[in-house]
Amino acid sequence: MHHRPAAISSAEYESFRLFLQEACGILLGNGKEYLVSSRLGNVMKEARVDSLGALTKMISSSVHSRLRVKVIDAMTTNETFWFRDIGHYLLLKETILPDLNRQGGGSIRIWSAACSSGQEPYNISMIAEEYQAFKGVGRAVQIEATDISSKVLDEARAGVYCGLAVERGLTHEQQRRFFIPKDNCLEVRPEIKRRVSFKSLNLTSSYPSMGKFDVIFCRNVLIYFANDLKKTIVERMADALNPGGYLFLGSTESINQLTDRFEMRVGHGGISYRLKS
Ligand SMILES: C[S@@+](CC[C@H](N)C(=O)[O-])C[C@H]1O[C@@H](n2cnc3c(N)ncnc32)[C@H](O)[C@@H]1O
Repeated sequence: MHHRPAAISSAEYESFRLFLQEACGILLGNGKEYLVSSRLGNVMKEARVDSLGALTKMISSSVHSRLRVKVIDAMTTNETFWFRDIGHYLLLKETILPDLNRQGGGSIRIWSAACSSGQEPYNISMIAEEYQAFKGVGRAVQIEATDISSKVLDEARAGVYCGLAVERGLTHEQQRRFFIPKDNCLEVRPEIKRRVSFKSLNLTSSYPSMGKFDVIFCRNVLIYFANDLKKTIVERMADALNPGGYLFLGSTESINQLTDRFEMRVGHGGISYRLKS
């Protein structure tokens, strides 16, 4: 018999909405019951739970932490592609890396703060590779890549991309230069992977253990959060930057009304926010 979960009552929807906001900051608007059902359908079937209320009760207790991970994986939007907002990468290569190299010092540290399946941090590493090849080494670049979803982090660590995931944003030239064929797919070359380390991090928590960065990419994730949380995160990012460090947001996101600790810089078709000293 075809298994059909019960319709979602407004009380169930409300308690799930609260759970999601507390767990990962993501705000569900009104009337998104259909989205919730379609994203959680398989998880509920697997866990043999037939109502959203029962599921919310289970994942609110620590006994079901694996189920909780699956629900968060299913509810995050992981859309990404290669060289998204190319202006940011051009700014990195043409302005920011040269500046940081002139300043001198140890490794340059870059944080990809909602890295999804890895395209963003690997692109940063590709830019560093090109810059260093052109300039003859310079300061080493270390990239910390974090996300809340364990599913995309596994994909990112593997660094193997197939079908559409390869096509979206890469030229054939870039495919040859930065990847090696693996079965019918492409794997990121070891010299590109080497700069990147992945770990799980919830942006709603605080992150003093991440240390200080020269550049932070926090793109296309704040859009899912309430304004207060956006403000808190942007402040924490400012605290995590070295003096004069740079922050990138998604091209549809703006820092106005969140903080005045950055000054906006425009160039190469992209916008960066530089920490005021
Ligand atoms: C739309 S993707 C953006 C990926 C990439 N930064 C880009 O711009 O292409 C948003 C990512 O944010 C992650 N995310 C959502 N809530 C989060 C949270 N509270 N902490 C950390 N990452 C989160 C999701 O798992 C998802 O991979």
